Amino acid sequence: MWGGRFAAGPASIMREINASIPFDKRLWKQDIAGSKAHVAMLATQGIVAQADADAIAAGLDTIAAEYEANGVPVNLDLEDIHMVTESRLADLIGPVAGRLHTARSRNDQVATDFRLWVRDAIDEVEAGLLGLQRALVARAEEQADAVMPGFTHLQSAQPVTLGHHLMAYYEMVRRDRSRFADARARLNECPLGAAALAGTGFPTNRHMTATALGFAKPTDNSLDSVSDRDFALDYLMAATQASLHLSRLAEEFIIWASQPFGFVKLPDAYSTGSSIMPQKRNPDAAELVRGHAGRIMGCMTALCVTMKGLPLAYSKDMQDDKPPVFEAHDLLALSIAAMTGMVGTVTFRTDRMRGLAESGFATATDLADWLVREGGIPFREAHHITGRAVAAAESAGVPMDQLPIATLKDIDARIDERVYAVLTVDASVASRQSHGGTAPSQVRARIAEAKEVLG
Ligand code: ARG
Repeated sequence: MWGGRFAAGPASIMREINASIPFDKRLWKQDIAGSKAHVAMLATQGIVAQADADAIAAGLDTIAAEYEANGVPVNLDLEDIHMVTESRLADLIGPVAGRLHTARSRNDQVATDFRLWVRDAIDEVEAGLLGLQRALVARAEEQADAVMPGFTHLQSAQPVTLGHHLMAYYEMVRRDRSRFADARARLNECPLGAAALAGTGFPTNRHMTATALGFAKPTDNSLDSVSDRDFALDYLMAATQASLHLSRLAEEFIIWASQPFGFVKLPDAYSTGSSIMPQKRNPDAAELVRGHAGRIMGCMTALCVTMKGLPLAYSKDMQDDKPPVFEAHDLLALSIAAMTGMVGTVTFRTDRMRGLAESGFATATDLADWLVREGGIPFREAHHITGRAVAAAESAGVPMDQLPIATLKDIDARIDERVYAVLTVDASVASRQSHGGTAPSQVRARIAEAKEVLG
C-alpha cells in the first residue's frame, strides 16, 4: 500500500509485529459500514463519481457476504482489516477500488471502526445487565420475607432479609448500567474524516457520515479524533467496575455454598464434581467469574499504560488498544451470563439462613434499642446491659428470645416481658422501616420501584 517509496519488503519479523489482522478482523462489520458511509458521502459531495461509488458499495457488500460465510482471511502481508478489505475490493472491482481511500486515512478509519465496535459491545453488556437485574428482582421478590444473618466483618451482625441482600446487588448493577450509558453517550461522536491527523482539503461532509453511522455529531478536533482512545478506556473502566460487582456476588455464592454456611445449593448446571471426592459440588462458575474480574482489571491497566505516554496524534502503540478491549468484553459477557444463570436457578436454603440468624445473637441491637426507647436509658449504657444479656445467652446456649425473664431482670431490673416482642428475628427485620431498610415492607417497595424501572 505504500510501496512507492520502499525498495525492499519488510522482514518477516516486521510483518509479524506490524500485523493486527489476527485480532482486528473482529472489526470487519464496522469497517464495511464505515467505508460504505464514506463512499456515499464522497459521491454526494462530487469527490467520486456516482458510478464508481456504486461499484465500490456493491463490492463492499460482496466482501461482507464473503466474510459472513467464510470468515476474514488472515494474511499478515496485508497487515490489518482495512487493507485486507481494500485489497479484496481491488480484486473484485479493479483500480476503481483505489478511490475509496480518498479524504480518509487508516487513522480515522480505525478510530471510527473501534468506536462503532465498542458502542455495539456496550449495547450487548447493557442487555446482559438488564437481564441480571431482572433475575435479582425476581428472586428478591420471592425471598422478601426470608430472614438471614446480615454480616459485617463476616460476623453475624443484625438479621436482614434475603430479598434485601439480593436487592443490594440490583443497586450495584444499576450503577454499572449508568456508567455504560455515560460511556456510550460520550463515545457517540464520529472521528471519520479527520483523515491522518490534520483534516482534509477535499470538500467532505463529516456531518453526513456521522449521521449515517448513528453518531450524534462529528468530532471537533482532527488531532484528538485520531489519538483519542478514551471511549475504550471508559468501556474498560465501566467493565472493571461491573466485573468487580459480579466477583463480589460470585464470592457470596462461594461462601454460601460452603458446608459450614450451607445457605445455597448451587445448580448442577453451574457446578462441577470432583474426580476423586464424590461428595463434592464445586462452585467453578462462580470462582471463574471471580477470577475473570482480575483479568478484566488487567486489560484496563494494560490500555491505561499504553496510552499514558503518547504524544499527539496517532502512534502505532495504539494498535494494541484492541486485544484488551476484546478480551475484557468476552470475559465480561460470559461473567454476566453465568451470574444471571446462577441467580435465576440457585436454591436458597432459607431454613438454614433463619437458623443461623437466630443463633448469632443478631437481635442484640434490638434489645439495646428497646432499653433506650422503653427505659429512657442512654444508648451507651443500654449497649453495656445488652452485652451482659448476650453473655448470659451464650453461656446458656440459647438465642436471645429464649432467655428467661428472671435472668434478664437480674441483669437490669428495668427489663420486662414486653422485650420479647423485639427479640425475634422477624420482629427485628420488620422494625427496620427506615427508607432503604431491611423491613419486608421496605424491600417490597424498592422491588416495586425496580420493576417499574425495568419495565
Ligand atoms: N492497524 C492500525 C491500528 O489498528 C490501523 C492504523 C494504522 N495507521 C498507521 N498510520 N499506520 O492502529
